[in-house]
Amino acid sequence: MSRLTVYPDTSADAPILDTCDAAEIAKTLAKIDVQFERWPAEAVLAADADDAAVMAAYAGAIDRLKAEGGYQAVDVVRMAPDNPQKEMLRRKFLSEHRHAEDEVRFFVEGEGLFCLREAGKVHMVLCEAGDLISVPAGIRHWFDMGPAPRFTAIRLFTNPEGWVAQYTDDPIADAYPRLEPQKLDHMTA
Ligand code: LAC
Ligand code: NI
Repeated sequence: MSRLTVYPDTSADAPILDTCDAAEIAKTLAKIDVQFERWPAEAVLAADADDAAVMAAYAGAIDRLKAEGGYQAVDVVRMAPDNPQKEMLRRKFLSEHRHAEDEVRFFVEGEGLFCLREAGKVHMVLCEAGDLISVPAGIRHWFDMGPAPRFTAIRLFTNPEGWVAQYTDDPIADAYPRLEPQKLDHMTA
């Protein structure tokens, strides 16, 4: 289930907020200019749906976002637990960074944990299938795909070249909870 946990950015001891309510998640993230939406399942995708089929299934929503945000480019990113680079990629995304352009992701399947550091807080957003998140340019963040990563997400860009990570070299992510499978099992039990 989609979940938002908010901590002070000085301590991961106790959350200030912990909610699975989509409206509350959206409202809380809107305060830091992050857009969050849960989309009703518009499309039933075949298990072997290729990138074109994924984008065709969500063409209407993609067009709306492009019009709203001025995004020019769209692609599909996939991660599977048998990816030989999964540990390297997990470490890379766990390093706090920012981008010169918005990071817009719609999760078609699977899940991932976005951690946004803004306004003196760390907002940890567990995104799952059906969730859209748009992180504005300049916001410090990291992402945990977990030890057995599995997701398919549509990405929208203004200019893919602008979406290069600028690392902050701050080890803050090490102090905060990770996306761990046993936690997910517990949460969905
Ligand atoms: C990225 C995310 C995962 O930059 O933060 O790809
Ligand atoms: Ni990023």
